[in-house]
Amino acid sequence: MSNLQDKILSILKDGAFHSGESLGEQLGVSRTAVWKQLQKVEEMGLQIESVKGTGYRVANGFELLCKETIVAHLSSANAQLPRQIEIFQTLDSTNKYVGERADYSTSVVFAERQTSGRGRRGKTWVSPFAANIYMSILWDFEQGAQALEGLSLGVGVAVRRALVELGLDNVSLKWPNDIYVAGKKLGGILLEMLGDPAGQCSVIIGVGINVSMPETTAADIDQPWTDLRAESKEPISRNKLAAVLVDKIFTLLADFETVGFAQYRDEWQAADAFKGQQGTISTPRDSISGTVVGVDNSGAVQLRLSSGEVQSFIGGELSLRRTQ
Ligand code: BTN
Repeated sequence: MSNLQDKILSILKDGAFHSGESLGEQLGVSRTAVWKQLQKVEEMGLQIESVKGTGYRVANGFELLCKETIVAHLSSANAQLPRQIEIFQTLDSTNKYVGERADYSTSVVFAERQTSGRGRRGKTWVSPFAANIYMSILWDFEQGAQALEGLSLGVGVAVRRALVELGLDNVSLKWPNDIYVAGKKLGGILLEMLGDPAGQCSVIIGVGINVSMPETTAADIDQPWTDLRAESKEPISRNKLAAVLVDKIFTLLADFETVGFAQYRDEWQAADAFKGQQGTISTPRDSISGTVVGVDNSGAVQLRLSSGEVQSFIGGELSLRRTQ
């Protein structure tokens, strides 16, 4: 990102109108150069309103992520823990970036937008500029993949704790790791493993939370969704949210290898969006339906089949069974 773009973004973030002339003066460039910068900002996904004789604005403004503000909001227990916090204006994917770096353990990476945000099951994660949270953390585990059972559900519990702390009182969890509010998806978690599943390995923990999804990009989302702007009584600062997420996730990671998912299971089940409902688990080979009972200590979802038997499923897609 050029210096000019940084400057124009920090002028436009207040949501007020700025004339082309004043933008030119503040940036020290011609009106044509201002116009080119505005076009680039629009290409990044910000909607610029232009009113003849008045100027340009981004309605409602926006809040850019700021490392110092995030660090200032971390709890004292975790303030020293992230090895580094990096914020990028644009990345293809924060998960990909973290996975390609050596010596990144306990680092946290945020992007203001992702051009190839990764969702579960090969889907794209819609990631417009300065609208939501896209973050990844890299964490090393000594004991291999077995110690990670249920970690993605544990991260869901940590994310939910963060949202509850910020005043959201109706956040639920959909197996395995979707964050839901009122039947709509607010966020998602994508864990990717690096290294030796039998020995020392690292996990990339990617979290995306919808804060203020622009209508223009919302059309690309293929499932019911919501954002914090719609669900929270008070406006939520993205920097504050970023800090509380880092805090809760680091607190979980600090002892997950020792205590495992068993420690978080009750809390997960208390927030289960599908508990007691008729659900179907679909895998590439099979579809099995039953009543959603909960999750076991390994994080597998449990269905009570019509035979009365309770069966656990570690993989697959869980959906609610449509009743006729
Ligand atoms: C899902 O499909 O529910 C998982 C979505 C995970 C999205 C986050 S955004 C930050 C991180 N980087 C990515 O490319 N994906 C994850």
